[in-house]
Amino acid sequence: MSKARILNVVGARPNFMKMAPLIEAFAARDDRFEQRLVHTGQHYDERMSKAFFEDLGMPRPDLDLEVGSGSHANQTGRIMMAFETVCQAERPNLVVVVGDVNSTMACTITAKKLGIKVAHVEAGLRSRDMTMPEEINRLCTDVLCDYLFTTDRFADDNLRAEGVDEDRIHFVGNVMIDTLMKHRSMAAALGLAARLGLAPGHYMTVTLHRPSNVDDPAVLKGILEALAELSERMPVVFPIHPRTRKMVDQAGLGGFLTSGDRVPEHGLWTCEPLGYLEFLHLNMNARLVLTDSGGLQEETSVLGVPCLTLRHNTERPITCSEGTNALVGNDKARILAVAGEVLDRPPGVARVPEKWDGHAAERIVEILARTL
Ligand code: UD1
Repeated sequence: MSKARILNVVGARPNFMKMAPLIEAFAARDDRFEQRLVHTGQHYDERMSKAFFEDLGMPRPDLDLEVGSGSHANQTGRIMMAFETVCQAERPNLVVVVGDVNSTMACTITAKKLGIKVAHVEAGLRSRDMTMPEEINRLCTDVLCDYLFTTDRFADDNLRAEGVDEDRIHFVGNVMIDTLMKHRSMAAALGLAARLGLAPGHYMTVTLHRPSNVDDPAVLKGILEALAELSERMPVVFPIHPRTRKMVDQAGLGGFLTSGDRVPEHGLWTCEPLGYLEFLHLNMNARLVLTDSGGLQEETSVLGVPCLTLRHNTERPITCSEGTNALVGNDKARILAVAGEVLDRPPGVARVPEKWDGHAAERIVEILARTL
């Protein structure tokens, strides 16, 4: 049997930890598959991209499209033009996309119009919030894809409700958790927390980058005020996304932030975005995580660390019903009230969702080996 040619696509930071276990699982079946890795270059900063390839032991991309930043239409259009050329030259049997970033949608549309099959890993997540660019990306991607690999039963139900045929839906578990499980002990062995002067269970971590939280100076200011007040209780570590850094500077809110070699007892301490292992290391020993990221809601659930999501909705409701996550929105008083309650009670016990067991990528490759 001739080998199936797979084109794996990554573009932005949250894609890398999802693709890493897939590359490994395809490599283990090199009797059936030959794979190439395409990086669209949506994220290009060393700390948003290259550092992750190193941490995760991923091969360098075979093709780097270097599209960079831009408005949504501009970025999406440039990814489509560059990826069309790649597909025409490579003639893959299957394109694999992960997550919900602009690269995910752009490459799906491009491949489908060339008659190439597409698999979406992390299909079926829905926030029902059409102001989120990711929600539009998810909907457009899923309606087109031949293989929809889901992380939980809610996602299956979402797809069914949209009229998707049963034979396109495959509940396989969570590839991001494959990566977490593989790297957990490696991350635990790092000495970063001690170097920063942090005691296990006595600090918080924060991430913030959603346009709905950082693009409006009044909203951003309220969140920073809440975080600064929380830092009176225990140290806060805030690795800052380039988009957020830019907005803080533009809005003249830099006065809320401190930096330096060690995290002070009080004050909102920021640093550059951290690598995968470093951030996992800090999160696994945190008392509380505050975030607007999607992936972190899942990771904290598996780590058993309480998470407050600074959004009004989530496409990952299983992290609230089974994991450690709670939605708090972005209002200062509410963030402070809920964070206070969480810090006042001992951390609860989370249930790890079904099939978040470190073997999702193997299941995906097994299904493809059988059916492609
Ligand atoms: C993107 C994804 C989002 C994901 C996030 C994780 C979309 C629609 N958004 O949002 O789903 O959660 O990545 O980080 O695909 N910038 C840099 N260096 C970089 C990348 C970006 O400085 O390497 C700056 C640029 O000023 C850019 C801004 O960050 O304009 C936003 O980057 P962009 O990729 O457009 O969106 P993110 O906010 O990173």
